[in-house]
Amino acid sequence: MSLLVKNIGAIVGIDESGRKRVSGKEMSHAAMLENAWLATDGERIKEYGSMENVPAEEGYTVIDAHGGWLFPSFCDSHTHIVYAGSREQEFLDKINGLSYEEIAKRGGGILNSADRLHETSEDELYRQAMERIDEIVSMGTGLVEIKSGYGLTLEDELKILRVIRRIRENAPLEVRATFLGAHAVGRAYKGRQAEYVEHVCNEMIPAVAGEGLADFVDVFCDRGFFTVEETARIIETGAKHGLRAKIHANELAVSGGVEVGVEHGALSVDHLESMGDEQIEALRDSGTMPTMLPGCAFFLGITYPPARKMIDAGLAVALASDFNPGTAPSGNMRFVTSLASIKMKMTPAEALNAATLNSACAMGESKDYGSITRGKVANFYITKPLPSLAYMPYAHQTPIIKDIVLKGKIIKQDILC
Ligand code: NIG
Ligand code: FE
Repeated sequence: MSLLVKNIGAIVGIDESGRKRVSGKEMSHAAMLENAWLATDGERIKEYGSMENVPAEEGYTVIDAHGGWLFPSFCDSHTHIVYAGSREQEFLDKINGLSYEEIAKRGGGILNSADRLHETSEDELYRQAMERIDEIVSMGTGLVEIKSGYGLTLEDELKILRVIRRIRENAPLEVRATFLGAHAVGRAYKGRQAEYVEHVCNEMIPAVAGEGLADFVDVFCDRGFFTVEETARIIETGAKHGLRAKIHANELAVSGGVEVGVEHGALSVDHLESMGDEQIEALRDSGTMPTMLPGCAFFLGITYPPARKMIDAGLAVALASDFNPGTAPSGNMRFVTSLASIKMKMTPAEALNAATLNSACAMGESKDYGSITRGKVANFYITKPLPSLAYMPYAHQTPIIKDIVLKGKIIKQDILC
C-alpha cells in the first residue's frame, strides 16, 4: 500500500543529512516544512514536498491531514513493559516516606515483580503486555526496546524474552529486546551475589543468545545492586555472544556505570540522575548515548539528570520512558518530553530530537527510524492543527494525535476530521 498524506500544516523532524544522532547546539533545531504532503512506498517514506507540487492521487490511499502536523513516531529506547500486575502498594509505601532502596531492601521492588511474574502464565503476561503496547502505540511510539529482568531465574528470564518475541511478531510497532538478568539478585541466590553473576554469565547469556532472544544486554550498575566489576564481567560475556550493552547507571549514586559503559562501547548509559563533571567528560567523544528517563525522577521524587549541562557540554542526549511497575508506570513519551522541558529545561526541539533520532540511535536504529527522511521506515503520527511546536509539551494532557502510521500501515485514522 502507498499512502499520500496531503494538507499537512507542518512536517516536523525532517532530516536530510542522514546523521545518526544530533548533538549539543544542533539539538535545538527541528527542521520543518509547512503546508506539505508526504508519500510512502510500502513500508518506507518515499517523498515529501510543498502542497504547491502535490502529486496526483491515483494509486495512493489518501489521508487528508486537514492542517494537522506530522511528526516522526517516538522511539522509546528503555522500557520494562513485560511485567505481571502492578505495584501500587509500594506507591503507598513511598507516600508514607519509604525510599526506593528501603522498599527493595525489604524484599519489595524488583523481587516483588519477580514473584508475581513467576506465578503468571506466558499467555497472561503477553495479554497484559499487549495492553501496554496498545497504549504506547496510541500515544505515538513506533519503535520500542523491552527488557527482561523480572524473571531472575533462567526459566523466567526466557519466559519474558519469549513474550517479547511474540510481541515483536504481532505488534504493529518495531521491537528490540534486552536481556537484563542482572536487574537484582534472584531469591535463590540471596547472599550469594558473585555466584548469581556467574550464573548470569555461564548459563543465562548463552541460553538467551542461543535462542536468539535478545539484541542487547543490560546490568543495573548502582549502589546496592551490581558493582562495576560485575557489570564489566557481564557485558564482556554479552559481547562474546553478540549482545551490545545498554547500562542502568547512576540512578541511586555515582556508580561507575557511565565509565564502565563507555569503556566497553555500550550503546547507551541510562538514568543518570547522579552525574558529576567527570561523567560528562567521560561521555564526550564516545559512541555511548546518555539516556535520561525523567518519568522515573518524577515518580520517585528524586533529582532530575543535568540535561542542560550535558547538552551545553556538546553531548547528544536521548529520552526514554523506563515504563515499569516500580519507578515509572507510564510509557507516555509526549509526557516525557514535557518533563524534559519543564524539569530539565530542554527546549521543545531538543526534547523532540532526544525522543526520536537520538533514542533510535540508543538502539542502534537511527539509520531506519527517528526522523522524516526519504528511505526511512514510514513511522509517523498526525496531530490536530497546532499553533507551534512548543504546544506539544505545553498542553501535555490534551489529546492531540489523530492518525497513526507505522511501517507504512494506517494503525489509527480519525475519519471525523
Ligand atoms: O529502570 N532501576 C532499575 N530498574 C527499573 C525499576 C525496576 C523496578 O523497580 O521494578 C528502573 O527504574
Ligand atoms: Fe529501567
